[in-house]
Amino acid sequence: MTNFPKDFLWGGAVAANQCEGAYQVDSKGLSLVDILPDAKQGRWDALMHPKAAAQKTYDFYPSHESIDFYHTYEQDLEMMAEMGFKVFRTSISWPRIFPNGDDAQPNEAGLAFYDKLFQKCRDLGMEPLVTINHFDTPLALMEKYNGWADRRLIDLYLRYCDVILHRYHKLVKYWLTFNEINMILHIPFLGGGMDVSDLSAKEALQTKYQAAHHQLVASAKAVKMAHEIDSDIKMGCMLAAGEVYPNTPAPADVLAALQANREGYFFIDVQARGYYPNYAKAFFKANDLHIEMTDADLAALKETVDFVSFSYYASRLVSADPEVAAEKGEANVFNSLKNPYLPTSSWGWQTDGVGLRITMNNVWDRYQKPLFVVENGLGEKDELTADHKVHDAYRIAYLKENIDQMGQAIADGVVCWGYTSWGCIDLVSASTGETAKRYGYIYVDRDNNGQGTNARYRKDSFYWYKDVIANNGVTEPIKA
Ligand code: BG6
Repeated sequence: MTNFPKDFLWGGAVAANQCEGAYQVDSKGLSLVDILPDAKQGRWDALMHPKAAAQKTYDFYPSHESIDFYHTYEQDLEMMAEMGFKVFRTSISWPRIFPNGDDAQPNEAGLAFYDKLFQKCRDLGMEPLVTINHFDTPLALMEKYNGWADRRLIDLYLRYCDVILHRYHKLVKYWLTFNEINMILHIPFLGGGMDVSDLSAKEALQTKYQAAHHQLVASAKAVKMAHEIDSDIKMGCMLAAGEVYPNTPAPADVLAALQANREGYFFIDVQARGYYPNYAKAFFKANDLHIEMTDADLAALKETVDFVSFSYYASRLVSADPEVAAEKGEANVFNSLKNPYLPTSSWGWQTDGVGLRITMNNVWDRYQKPLFVVENGLGEKDELTADHKVHDAYRIAYLKENIDQMGQAIADGVVCWGYTSWGCIDLVSASTGETAKRYGYIYVDRDNNGQGTNARYRKDSFYWYKDVIANNGVTEPIKA
């Protein structure tokens, strides 16, 4: 028995900046990620102080070659089709299309690459699901405007949208305006192409919410533009989700969890409902933030998304008690305590399948718009055996738990269009720059220093997921 509808879109997700490599091929401009070193050379520090990082020279930049998907996409997509993928999520690299972000003309060579990529998806029977901006703003826009802190980014983004929506609308039906739009509050460089490191805490908060406003307006205008270009297009928003639990039943902890959940939902409240929620206005007032928004902005926000997508890796845990809160667990950009009921990965990320069911129910209850789970997965170390096998039972266990719980959420009444697990082929980690933090069904022979043959091998999870798709979400294959 399956809980999944028969047209459920099973597949996997990547992002251009983490797999394409070819960082200067065919006139691509520099992207934000192209100045980031690996973890050993201080990637986190570079993420927090990007203007300083841009002046430095590092020995190794993981994004420059990455897994070279730009040149291997045909064989990689064929392996995904072999698993039975019905959807493939990737992003367009903005600096491949506008190398500096504000060029007079788009770069035809960059556009031609995505013609081929999306056509190949179609030929293999996969729907492309395309993120317009996934941590991949042209670096020049940080240097010239401090990224989304500047209102002019709205029009530059819309020019880019105009070009790609016109060019690809016949090949691409599903689009996301911004990856993990709430990331701008946590890593303003990746989320907003800006450096706030020289600002006071209050100024930084003001800048981040002003930039968020610019993105929300840009997103709503892109939704309108897409619908005008092609009424078949489905436009989605994308949240870095994960229900925040209270550490105890103490009312103060429950209130802290409510507030932490709102920090993320704020973005989707605007994108899915079309206006700023009252609690956001109260938050701005309480923190003495003054967000410039015109009447035309507020009118533009009324154009809402067709579906709500999100990434989900784990739930989070907060406490109102400052002493307890100081014991924050390691890893992850989100402030979370360690939940004693949950297992932890080698990178300190906790895993919680039931949390996916809870998150899906809450997002559905809140918006009543179809959901799309566009990221989920386990980043772990894998070992390639001498005969080129990878026995990743731990990954299968994680995915089974999450997929089963997604099925339960659908049985609860949640409407969900599809599931694209993260990093379906091993790629470069966004937070650490490592390739050894592997999420894929397909192993890529490349290490953290960029060494290896770059050959692809099928992991045990490859065959397992193929069965899951063939059986429409039944995680223990039905034997005849
Ligand atoms: C999400 C991002 O935050 O999590 C991806 O949308 C990212 O780009 C993924 O890769 C997993 O995070 P990490 O740091 O393990 O790569």
